[in-house]
Amino acid sequence: MVELESIVSAALAEFAGCNDPAALENSKARYLGKSGRLSELLKSLGKLSPGERPAAGARINAAKESLETALVRRREELADQKLARQLAAEALDISLPGRGLGVGALHPITRTLERIEALFHSLGFSVADGPEIEDDFHNFTALNMPEDHPSRSMHDTFYVEGGMVLRTHTSPVQVRYMEAHPPPIKIIAPGRVYRVDSDATHSPMFHQVEGLWIDETVSFAELKGVFTDFMRRFFERDDLQLRFRPSFFPFTEPSAEIDMSFGDSWLEIAGAGQVHPNVLRAVDIDPERYQGFAFGMGSDRLAMLRYGVNDLRLFFENDLRFLRQFA
Ligand code: FA5
Ligand code: MG
Repeated sequence: MVELESIVSAALAEFAGCNDPAALENSKARYLGKSGRLSELLKSLGKLSPGERPAAGARINAAKESLETALVRRREELADQKLARQLAAEALDISLPGRGLGVGALHPITRTLERIEALFHSLGFSVADGPEIEDDFHNFTALNMPEDHPSRSMHDTFYVEGGMVLRTHTSPVQVRYMEAHPPPIKIIAPGRVYRVDSDATHSPMFHQVEGLWIDETVSFAELKGVFTDFMRRFFERDDLQLRFRPSFFPFTEPSAEIDMSFGDSWLEIAGAGQVHPNVLRAVDIDPERYQGFAFGMGSDRLAMLRYGVNDLRLFFENDLRFLRQFA
Protein backbone atom coordinates (compact mmCIF):
# COMPACT_ATOMS: atom_id res chain seq x y z
CA MET A 1 0.00 0.00 0.00
CA VAL A 2 2.21 2.78 -1.29
CA GLU A 3 -0.72 5.15 -1.00
CA LEU A 4 -0.90 4.75 2.82
CA GLU A 5 2.70 5.77 3.34
CA SER A 6 2.40 8.85 1.18
CA ILE A 7 -0.79 9.87 3.00
CA VAL A 8 0.96 9.51 6.39
CA SER A 9 4.02 11.49 5.37
CA ALA A 10 1.87 14.19 3.73
CA ALA A 11 -0.24 14.45 6.92
CA LEU A 12 2.81 14.63 9.20
CA ALA A 13 4.31 17.36 7.04
CA GLU A 14 1.07 19.31 7.06
CA PHE A 15 0.61 19.04 10.84
CA ALA A 16 4.16 20.24 11.38
CA GLY A 17 3.51 23.18 9.06
CA CYS A 18 0.37 24.34 10.89
CA ASN A 19 1.16 27.37 13.01
CA ASP A 20 -2.18 27.89 14.72
CA PRO A 21 -4.80 25.59 16.28
CA ALA A 22 -7.50 26.35 13.66
CA ALA A 23 -5.25 25.34 10.74
CA LEU A 24 -4.29 22.18 12.59
CA GLU A 25 -7.95 21.19 13.13
CA ASN A 26 -8.69 21.76 9.42
CA SER A 27 -5.74 19.63 8.51
CA LYS A 28 -6.92 16.91 10.91
CA ALA A 29 -10.32 16.86 9.14
CA ARG A 30 -8.60 16.38 5.77
CA TYR A 31 -6.93 13.16 6.95
CA LEU A 32 -8.86 11.76 9.91
CA GLY A 33 -12.29 13.32 9.36
CA LYS A 34 -15.36 11.35 8.15
CA SER A 35 -14.46 11.86 4.52
CA GLY A 36 -10.78 12.39 5.15
CA ARG A 37 -8.17 10.51 3.20
CA LEU A 38 -7.58 7.72 5.75
CA SER A 39 -11.31 7.14 6.18
CA GLU A 40 -11.65 6.87 2.41
CA LEU A 41 -8.89 4.30 2.40
CA LEU A 42 -10.66 2.29 5.14
CA LYS A 43 -13.86 2.30 3.10
CA SER A 44 -11.91 0.95 0.12
CA LEU A 45 -10.99 -2.16 2.11
CA GLY A 46 -14.14 -3.73 0.73
CA LYS A 47 -12.51 -3.93 -2.67
CA LEU A 48 -9.78 -6.20 -1.36
CA SER A 49 -10.01 -9.92 -1.13
CA PRO A 50 -11.04 -11.32 2.26
CA GLY A 51 -7.55 -12.73 2.74
CA GLU A 52 -5.88 -9.35 2.30
CA ARG A 53 -8.34 -7.33 4.41
CA PRO A 54 -7.13 -8.01 8.03
CA ALA A 55 -3.52 -7.06 7.37
CA ALA A 56 -4.47 -4.02 5.35
CA GLY A 57 -6.99 -2.96 8.03
CA ALA A 58 -4.39 -3.32 10.75
CA ARG A 59 -1.90 -1.18 8.83
CA ILE A 60 -4.45 1.54 8.26
CA ASN A 61 -5.42 1.58 11.94
CA ALA A 62 -1.76 1.76 12.98
CA ALA A 63 -1.30 4.71 10.60
CA LYS A 64 -4.38 6.35 12.06
CA GLU A 65 -3.04 6.01 15.58
CA SER A 66 0.33 7.45 14.65
CA LEU A 67 -1.40 10.46 13.05
CA GLU A 68 -3.52 10.96 16.14
CA THR A 69 -0.44 10.88 18.34
CA ALA A 70 1.30 13.40 16.07
CA LEU A 71 -1.80 15.60 16.19
CA VAL A 72 -1.89 15.64 20.01
CA ARG A 73 1.81 16.47 20.17
CA ARG A 74 1.41 19.32 17.66
CA ARG A 75 -1.55 20.71 19.61
CA GLU A 76 0.61 20.79 22.75
CA GLU A 77 3.48 22.43 20.90
CA LEU A 78 1.18 25.15 19.59
CA ALA A 79 -0.28 25.72 23.10
CA ASP A 80 3.25 25.94 24.58
CA GLN A 81 4.31 28.41 21.89
CA LYS A 82 1.26 30.53 22.56
CA LEU A 83 2.01 30.58 26.30
CA ALA A 84 5.67 31.41 25.67
CA ARG A 85 4.68 34.34 23.40
CA GLN A 86 2.23 35.58 26.00
CA LEU A 87 4.79 35.38 28.82
CA ALA A 88 7.33 37.22 26.71
CA ALA A 89 4.82 39.94 25.85
CA GLU A 90 3.64 40.39 29.42
CA ALA A 91 7.07 40.13 31.03
CA LEU A 92 7.52 42.34 34.12
CA ASP A 93 10.71 44.17 34.90
CA ILE A 94 10.96 42.96 38.48
CA SER A 95 14.08 45.05 39.04
CA LEU A 96 11.91 48.20 38.96
CA PRO A 97 11.09 49.30 42.53
CA GLY A 98 7.38 48.82 43.19
CA ARG A 99 5.10 51.66 44.20
CA GLY A 100 3.61 49.50 46.92
CA LEU A 101 0.84 50.35 49.33
CA GLY A 102 2.21 52.49 52.14
CA VAL A 103 1.33 51.02 55.50
CA GLY A 104 0.39 53.80 57.89
CA ALA A 105 1.50 54.06 61.49
CA LEU A 106 0.98 56.43 64.37
CA HIS A 107 3.46 59.25 64.82
CA PRO A 108 5.80 58.55 67.78
CA ILE A 109 4.51 61.71 69.51
CA THR A 110 0.91 60.48 69.13
CA ARG A 111 1.89 57.09 70.52
CA THR A 112 3.59 58.79 73.45
CA LEU A 113 0.47 60.87 74.18
CA GLU A 114 -1.72 57.76 74.01
CA ARG A 115 0.58 55.98 76.42
CA ILE A 116 0.50 58.95 78.82
CA GLU A 117 -3.30 59.12 78.63
CA ALA A 118 -3.63 55.39 79.35
CA LEU A 119 -1.34 55.59 82.39
CA PHE A 120 -3.12 58.63 83.88
CA HIS A 121 -6.47 57.07 83.11
CA SER A 122 -5.42 54.13 85.27
CA LEU A 123 -4.69 56.63 88.08
CA GLY A 124 -8.23 58.04 87.82
CA PHE A 125 -7.62 61.11 85.62
CA SER A 126 -9.93 61.98 82.72
CA VAL A 127 -8.92 63.93 79.60
CA ALA A 128 -9.86 67.56 78.85
CA ASP A 129 -8.81 70.01 76.16
CA GLY A 130 -8.96 73.65 75.12
CA PRO A 131 -8.23 75.98 72.18
CA GLU A 132 -4.72 76.47 70.75
CA ILE A 133 -5.52 80.08 69.83
CA GLU A 134 -6.13 81.49 73.28
CA ASP A 135 -7.09 84.84 74.73
CA ASP A 136 -4.79 86.81 76.95
CA PHE A 137 -7.05 86.29 79.98
CA HIS A 138 -6.87 82.49 79.97
CA ASN A 139 -3.23 82.19 78.91
CA PHE A 140 -1.96 84.79 81.41
CA THR A 141 -4.26 86.95 83.54
CA ALA A 142 -6.36 84.21 85.17
CA LEU A 143 -3.10 82.40 85.95
CA ASN A 144 -2.05 85.25 88.24
CA MET A 145 -0.03 87.02 85.55
CA PRO A 146 -1.54 90.50 85.29
CA GLU A 147 -0.71 92.74 82.31
CA ASP A 148 2.80 94.18 82.42
CA HIS A 149 3.75 91.59 85.02
CA PRO A 150 7.39 90.55 84.47
CA SER A 151 6.53 86.85 84.67
CA ARG A 152 4.97 87.10 81.20
CA SER A 153 8.44 87.51 79.76
CA MET A 154 9.20 83.90 80.87
CA HIS A 155 7.34 82.89 77.72
CA ASP A 156 8.38 84.03 74.25
CA THR A 157 4.90 84.39 72.90
CA PHE A 158 3.56 84.23 69.32
CA TYR A 159 0.91 86.95 69.12
CA VAL A 160 -1.89 86.70 66.56
CA GLU A 161 -4.50 89.23 65.44
CA GLY A 162 -7.23 90.47 67.74
CA GLY A 163 -5.19 90.37 70.95
CA MET A 164 -5.07 86.57 70.85
CA VAL A 165 -1.99 84.40 71.37
CA LEU A 166 -0.91 80.91 70.36
CA ARG A 167 -1.12 79.37 73.82
CA THR A 168 2.32 79.16 75.37
CA HIS A 169 1.37 76.31 77.71
CA THR A 170 -1.57 74.01 78.47
CA SER A 171 -2.24 75.77 81.79
CA PRO A 172 -5.16 77.85 80.35
CA VAL A 173 -7.09 74.55 80.16
CA GLN A 174 -6.93 74.46 83.98
CA VAL A 175 -8.79 77.78 84.05
CA ARG A 176 -11.33 76.80 81.39
CA TYR A 177 -12.04 73.49 83.09
CA MET A 178 -12.46 75.03 86.57
CA GLU A 179 -14.77 77.72 85.10
CA ALA A 180 -17.07 74.96 83.88
CA HIS A 181 -16.73 72.26 86.58
CA PRO A 182 -16.90 72.42 90.38
CA PRO A 183 -14.40 70.33 92.42
CA PRO A 184 -13.48 67.56 92.83
CA ILE A 185 -11.46 67.79 89.60
CA LYS A 186 -8.98 65.23 88.36
CA ILE A 187 -7.91 65.78 84.75
CA ILE A 188 -5.04 65.81 82.31
CA ALA A 189 -5.05 68.09 79.24
CA PRO A 190 -2.66 67.07 76.44
CA GLY A 191 -2.11 69.36 73.46
CA ARG A 192 0.04 71.55 71.24
CA VAL A 193 1.65 74.72 72.54
CA TYR A 194 3.84 77.37 70.89
CA ARG A 195 6.87 79.46 71.84
CA VAL A 196 9.58 81.41 70.05
CA ASP A 197 12.16 78.76 70.94
CA SER A 198 14.48 76.44 68.99
CA ASP A 199 17.31 74.11 69.96
CA ALA A 200 17.81 70.37 70.56
CA THR A 201 15.40 70.30 73.54
CA HIS A 202 13.12 73.19 72.42
CA SER A 203 10.82 73.27 69.40
CA PRO A 204 8.63 76.29 68.43
CA MET A 205 5.63 73.94 68.40
CA PHE A 206 5.67 71.26 71.05
CA HIS A 207 3.34 69.28 73.28
CA GLN A 208 2.50 69.56 76.93
CA VAL A 209 0.32 67.46 79.15
CA GLU A 210 -1.30 69.50 81.91
CA GLY A 211 -2.39 67.75 85.08
CA LEU A 212 -4.85 69.14 87.63
CA TRP A 213 -6.18 67.48 90.78
CA ILE A 214 -8.31 69.63 93.08
CA ASP A 215 -10.11 68.30 96.16
CA GLU A 216 -10.19 69.04 99.88
CA THR A 217 -6.91 67.44 100.93
CA VAL A 218 -4.76 67.02 97.82
CA SER A 219 -1.24 67.97 98.93
CA PHE A 220 2.25 68.32 97.48
CA ALA A 221 2.87 64.75 98.69
CA GLU A 222 0.20 63.53 96.24
CA LEU A 223 1.94 65.46 93.46
CA LYS A 224 5.23 63.71 94.21
CA GLY A 225 3.53 60.32 94.50
CA VAL A 226 1.42 60.59 91.34
CA PHE A 227 4.17 62.06 89.18
CA THR A 228 6.85 59.62 90.34
CA ASP A 229 4.52 56.65 89.90
CA PHE A 230 3.58 57.85 86.41
CA MET A 231 7.20 58.36 85.31
CA ARG A 232 8.35 54.98 86.62
CA ARG A 233 5.54 53.25 84.78
CA PHE A 234 6.11 55.29 81.61
CA PHE A 235 9.79 54.30 81.46
CA GLU A 236 9.18 50.84 82.99
CA ARG A 237 11.96 51.46 85.53
CA ASP A 238 11.40 51.25 89.28
CA ASP A 239 14.74 52.91 89.96
CA LEU A 240 14.05 55.99 87.82
CA GLN A 241 15.37 59.11 89.61
CA LEU A 242 13.40 62.38 89.69
CA ARG A 243 14.45 65.69 91.19
CA PHE A 244 11.87 68.20 92.46
CA ARG A 245 13.81 71.44 92.16
CA PRO A 246 12.39 74.57 93.85
CA SER A 247 11.20 77.05 91.23
CA PHE A 248 8.71 79.83 90.57
CA PHE A 249 5.41 80.00 88.70
CA PRO A 250 2.88 82.79 89.38
CA PHE A 251 0.05 80.24 89.38
CA THR A 252 1.47 77.76 91.92
CA GLU A 253 2.80 78.10 95.46
CA PRO A 254 5.04 76.34 96.32
CA SER A 255 6.43 75.61 92.84
CA ALA A 256 8.91 73.09 91.53
CA GLU A 257 10.45 72.00 88.29
CA ILE A 258 10.78 68.26 87.88
CA ASP A 259 13.94 66.86 86.30
CA MET A 260 14.62 63.32 85.23
CA SER A 261 18.07 61.81 85.42
CA PHE A 262 19.46 60.26 82.28
CA GLY A 263 23.05 59.16 81.88
CA ASP A 264 25.00 61.48 84.16
CA SER A 265 22.85 64.57 83.64
CA TRP A 266 19.31 65.83 84.25
CA LEU A 267 16.61 66.95 81.80
CA GLU A 268 13.73 69.18 82.87
CA ILE A 269 10.44 67.37 82.24
CA ALA A 270 7.77 69.50 83.93
CA GLY A 271 6.80 72.54 85.94
CA ALA A 272 4.46 71.88 88.88
CA GLY A 273 3.17 73.00 92.26
CA GLN A 274 0.20 73.59 94.54
CA VAL A 275 -2.42 75.67 92.69
CA HIS A 276 -2.15 79.32 93.86
CA PRO A 277 -5.14 80.59 95.91
CA ASN A 278 -5.51 83.55 93.49
CA VAL A 279 -6.09 81.12 90.61
CA LEU A 280 -8.81 79.30 92.56
CA ARG A 281 -10.44 82.64 93.48
CA ALA A 282 -10.44 83.75 89.83
CA VAL A 283 -12.68 80.78 88.99
CA ASP A 284 -14.85 81.08 92.13
CA ILE A 285 -13.43 78.11 93.99
CA ASP A 286 -12.98 78.71 97.73
CA PRO A 287 -9.27 78.27 98.54
CA GLU A 288 -10.16 77.84 102.24
CA ARG A 289 -11.98 74.64 101.34
CA TYR A 290 -10.23 73.32 98.20
CA GLN A 291 -6.61 72.78 97.30
CA GLY A 292 -4.60 70.66 94.93
CA PHE A 293 -1.73 70.40 92.52
CA ALA A 294 -1.08 71.13 88.87
CA PHE A 295 1.75 70.21 86.55
CA GLY A 296 2.69 70.96 82.95
CA MET A 297 4.84 68.27 81.41
CA GLY A 298 6.87 68.48 78.20
CA SER A 299 5.73 65.20 76.66
CA ASP A 300 8.00 65.48 73.58
CA ARG A 301 10.95 65.25 75.94
CA LEU A 302 9.52 61.98 77.26
CA ALA A 303 9.34 60.66 73.68
CA MET A 304 12.89 61.88 73.10
CA LEU A 305 14.25 60.00 76.15
CA ARG A 306 12.13 56.90 75.58
CA TYR A 307 13.23 56.52 71.95
CA GLY A 308 16.82 57.74 72.42
CA VAL A 309 16.50 60.72 70.04
CA ASN A 310 19.04 63.49 70.58
CA ASP A 311 17.15 66.42 68.98
CA LEU A 312 13.39 66.64 69.55
CA ARG A 313 12.90 68.87 66.49
CA LEU A 314 13.46 65.70 64.39
CA PHE A 315 9.97 64.58 65.41
CA PHE A 316 8.44 67.50 63.52
CA GLU A 317 10.44 67.54 60.27
CA ASN A 318 8.21 64.83 58.78
CA ASP A 319 11.14 62.98 57.27
CA LEU A 320 9.72 59.51 56.66
CA ARG A 321 13.17 57.90 56.93
CA PHE A 322 13.23 59.10 60.54
CA LEU A 323 9.57 58.42 61.37
CA ARG A 324 9.52 54.88 59.91
CA GLN A 325 11.96 53.74 62.57
CA PHE A 326 9.15 54.00 65.12
CA ALA A 327 6.43 52.27 63.06
C1 FA5 B 1 5.08 75.78 82.01
O1 FA5 B 1 4.79 75.85 80.83
C2 FA5 B 1 4.08 75.77 83.07
N1 FA5 B 1 2.78 76.05 82.52
C3 FA5 B 1 4.09 74.40 83.78
C4 FA5 B 1 3.23 74.35 85.00
C5 FA5 B 1 1.94 73.88 84.90
C6 FA5 B 1 3.73 74.77 86.23
C7 FA5 B 1 1.14 73.80 86.03
C8 FA5 B 1 2.93 74.71 87.34
C9 FA5 B 1 1.65 74.21 87.25
P1 FA5 B 1 7.65 75.49 81.51
O2 FA5 B 1 7.82 76.73 80.73
O3 FA5 B 1 8.78 75.11 82.40
O4 FA5 B 1 6.36 75.55 82.46
O5 FA5 B 1 7.38 74.29 80.51
C10 FA5 B 1 6.98 73.01 81.00
C11 FA5 B 1 7.76 71.91 80.27
O6 FA5 B 1 7.54 72.01 78.86
C12 FA5 B 1 9.27 72.03 80.42
O7 FA5 B 1 9.69 71.44 81.63
C13 FA5 B 1 9.77 71.27 79.23
O8 FA5 B 1 9.72 69.87 79.49
C14 FA5 B 1 8.71 71.57 78.21
N2 FA5 B 1 9.13 72.61 77.25
C15 FA5 B 1 9.21 73.93 77.46
N3 FA5 B 1 9.56 74.59 76.34
C16 FA5 B 1 9.71 73.64 75.39
C17 FA5 B 1 10.02 73.67 73.99
N4 FA5 B 1 10.25 74.81 73.36
N5 FA5 B 1 10.06 72.49 73.31
C18 FA5 B 1 9.82 71.33 73.97
N6 FA5 B 1 9.49 71.22 75.25
C19 FA5 B 1 9.43 72.37 75.97
MG1 MG C 1 10.66 75.32 82.95
